[in-house]
Amino acid sequence: MRTEVAIIGAGPAGLLLSHLLAEQGVESVLIETRSQEYVLSRIRAGILEHSTVQLLDDIGLGTRLHAEGQQHRGIYLQWPEERHNIDFTDLVGRSVWVYGQTEVTKDLVAAREAAGQQIYYEVTDTALHDIESDSPFVTFTDSSGTQVRLDASVVAGCDGSFGPSRAAMPDSVRQVWERTYPYSWLGVLADVAPSTDELIYAWHPDGFAMHSMRSSTVSRLYLQVPNGTDVSTWSDDRIWDALSTRLGHGQDGWELTPGPITEKSVLPMRSYVQTPMRHGRLFLAGDAAHIVPPTGAKGLNLAVADVALLAPALAALLRKNDDTLANSYSDDALRRVWRCTHFSWWMTTMLHTAEDPFDAQLQLSQLRWVASSEAGATGLAENYAGLPIGF
Ligand code: FAD
Ligand code: DHB
Repeated sequence: MRTEVAIIGAGPAGLLLSHLLAEQGVESVLIETRSQEYVLSRIRAGILEHSTVQLLDDIGLGTRLHAEGQQHRGIYLQWPEERHNIDFTDLVGRSVWVYGQTEVTKDLVAAREAAGQQIYYEVTDTALHDIESDSPFVTFTDSSGTQVRLDASVVAGCDGSFGPSRAAMPDSVRQVWERTYPYSWLGVLADVAPSTDELIYAWHPDGFAMHSMRSSTVSRLYLQVPNGTDVSTWSDDRIWDALSTRLGHGQDGWELTPGPITEKSVLPMRSYVQTPMRHGRLFLAGDAAHIVPPTGAKGLNLAVADVALLAPALAALLRKNDDTLANSYSDDALRRVWRCTHFSWWMTTMLHTAEDPFDAQLQLSQLRWVASSEAGATGLAENYAGLPIGF
C-alpha cells in the first residue's frame, strides 16, 4: 500500500495533521495501536488556548466547541487565606476555553470519517524503515493479523511518549533533555457542578490542588500526591477532605460541593524534549517529541501548534518540491516547545509543595508578585492564554 504521508498515532496530533493535510490535497493513512472506542474515551487535557480555538474555528471544527465549551477570561491563583483572579482578557486580550481533549478527539474523528480518511485501529508491531531515504516505509500487523507494508514519501511520528517514532531517530542524531518531578497528580472526575466559575490553582502546605471542570455538571479536580501513590489508598472521602482543605473550603464563605467520583487516576509528571524534531523523512509532532508537566495546560496545545507548522511544511515539500519550511520545521517548532517547557516547569515548581521551607518562602513570594504586579500577572497571562502560532 502507498500513501503520501504515513501518520503513526491517531491522537490529537495525528488526527489534526491528517485533516490539515487533506485540506491541502495531501493524502495520508493513519495507524493506531488502540481501538477507536479507547481513543474516543481517553480522559486527558481540558484547556484550549486562544490559538488552538482559532485554528479549530478556521478549519470548521469549532461548532460543538462553541456550543458546549466554556470560554474563561482567566484563572484564580490561591494560597492560604488569599485568592486572586488573573484576568487574561484584560491583561493580554486573549481567553481560554474549557473543552476536553476527549471532545476535540471526537470532533476530529467524526470529521476524518466523514472525509473517508483511512485509519487502521488496533495495529501491532509498528516499525519505521529507511527514514533517511526518499522512500521510507512503515510496517505493522493490522487488526485481522495481516502484515502490512505502508510506503510513503514522509512519515509523521505522532505516536506520543510510548510510540516507536522518537527512538527511530539514530542515537548519533538525537538529543534528549529531561526532568522528573518528585510528585504526581491524583486526578478525579466527579458528577457535580463546579464550585467555581474559573479554574483554581492552589498552593497549600499539604500540596497543590486544582479545581477544573468539563461542563456545568461535571468537575475535574487534581491533588498533588507522592510519586508511586497507589490510587486505592485514596477513598472518595479522603479525596474530598484533602480538596476541601487545600482549596480553602470555608475561606471567605467559599464552599466546595462534593459529589460522586466517576474516575480516578494517578499521573506522573515529566518534562522531556527530544531534538531534532525532523530527521530525513521522519517528522515528530506532539508528545512524540516533547512532554510537559500538566500544570500549565500546554500538552495538547503544543501538539496542535506543532502540526499547524508541519502541515504547510509537508504540503510545500510534496506539492511544490519546496523544502524551505520542512528544513526549518524543527527549529520553528522548538522555539515554542522550549517556551512552553519553561512555562510548565515554572507553574509546576511555583505551585507544588517542596520539602525545603526555603523553597516554600520563595514560592509564596513569587505567587504574591504574580498576583499583585501587572507585569507578573501579564507574564502568566501571555503564556497561559498562549502565544500566537508561529511564535
Ligand atoms: P497522544 O494523545 O498520546 O497520541 C498518540 C497516539 O499514538 C495514541 O493514540 C497512541 O495510542 C498511539 N500510538 C502509540 N504507540 C503507537 C504505535 N506503536 N503504533 C501506532 N500508534 C501508536 N495535558 C494537559 O495539558 N493537561 C492534562 O490534564 C493532561 N492530562 C494528561 C493525562 C494523561 C494520562 C496523559 C498521557 C497526558 C495528559 N496530558 C495532559 C497531555 C496531553 O494529553 C498530550 O500532550 C496530548 O495527548 C498530546 O497529543 P499527541 O497526539 O501528541 O499524543
Ligand atoms: C486541566 C488540566 C490541566 O493540566 C490544567 O492545567 C488545567 C485543566 C483539566 O483537565 O481540566
